[in-house]
Amino acid sequence: MALPPVPQNDPKAAYLAQRAAIDAAITRTLESGWYILGKETTAFEAEFAAAVGCRHGIGVGSGTDALILALRALGVAEGDAVVTVSHTAVATVAAIELTGATPLLVDIDRDTYTMDPAALARVLAAPPPGIGRIAAVIAVHLYGRPADLAAIGALTRRHGLRLIEDCAQSHGARFDGSLAGSIGDLACFSFYPTKNLGALGDGGMVTTRDDALAAELRALREYGWRGERYVSERTGMNSRLDELQAAILRVKLSRLAADNERRRALAARYDAGLRDILTVPTRDQRVEHAFHQYVVRTPRRDPLRAALGEAGIGSAIHYPVPIHLQPAYRGRIACAPSGLAETEAAAREILSLPMYPQLGEAAIDRVVEAMTEALALLGGGTSPPGRP
Ligand SMILES: Cc1ncc(COP(=O)(O)O)c(C=O)c1O
Repeated sequence: MALPPVPQNDPKAAYLAQRAAIDAAITRTLESGWYILGKETTAFEAEFAAAVGCRHGIGVGSGTDALILALRALGVAEGDAVVTVSHTAVATVAAIELTGATPLLVDIDRDTYTMDPAALARVLAAPPPGIGRIAAVIAVHLYGRPADLAAIGALTRRHGLRLIEDCAQSHGARFDGSLAGSIGDLACFSFYPTKNLGALGDGGMVTTRDDALAAELRALREYGWRGERYVSERTGMNSRLDELQAAILRVKLSRLAADNERRRALAARYDAGLRDILTVPTRDQRVEHAFHQYVVRTPRRDPLRAALGEAGIGSAIHYPVPIHLQPAYRGRIACAPSGLAETEAAAREILSLPMYPQLGEAAIDRVVEAMTEALALLGGGTSPPGRP
């Protein structure tokens, strides 16, 4: 008898795990008669901000909007440049362009898949010709692993730049004991359904310690209103986390820490089964990984992925085409003069395995077994020589 498929992600399983509480939160909100910026959003903003070690949380429509609003709140505008990576969800780069600013892309570190501080240092010392004032850096904590905020923060301070953390994949992760989202000037979260903290629709949040930035963000997300309703103090937009999603997220937030623990336990089980046959995620004492994704690396990626598919095991590539090579950006987006070799190499070799808190140990063992068999047939799966 065929085994049931193992999906790469399963947001429905997360709903079913808390079904009664989520259904009750939905009913409570529907019956309240108040659907936008009410008690649920206010309560969730405070609870989430506390959970990520920040004073303020501003609920918005999506993670993309969180990035746009964060950049606008910092005064980033047309003519400014913002440094980030090409190995990220396209939203990071799209948000920069949507503010009118120019993205400037730097390479990642081979072992962490996050911004290489040495590449950042090089581009800040010698930006490519034609780049305007560099105003900010967006560090993306990809896969749930915080970027090297010690090195990146030292560089942004030295150059007088603002630091935004893209925490769309890193709810509850830590760097040097501090929660991701509490370290930069502003941090942007997504509550897309598959995230570590996922809504049942779109949603996002900006967090900050800064009272003035928080007030600016609250105005910007709602037409530029500050004190008085229907009077715009500045040009804003409409991007508000709705009451239903906030009520659902309050329920799910109660499990975030336990869910992240579970993700780490599953990652450890993968590590034990896979570390001898391909490159598993590297570890760093300073980092508490939230394992939004468990990403392995092998030059046999494509045939391995096909074999997993035949065995009923879902996988994904985050991301298959670096942003600077995608049709919308290719040939026109500014890249660091030293190039993006590690970004391009990673895109050829990375594979995201099934990872979500409801995944069972038996499923992990099945994935490990299928990968071991496939790599034995394919003839080896380790990364280029000299790599662990
Ligand atoms: C790293 C990163 N940044 C930004 C976003 C954008 O979030 P959203 O899909 O909520 O707009 C995502 C999610 O897709 C992401 O993974």
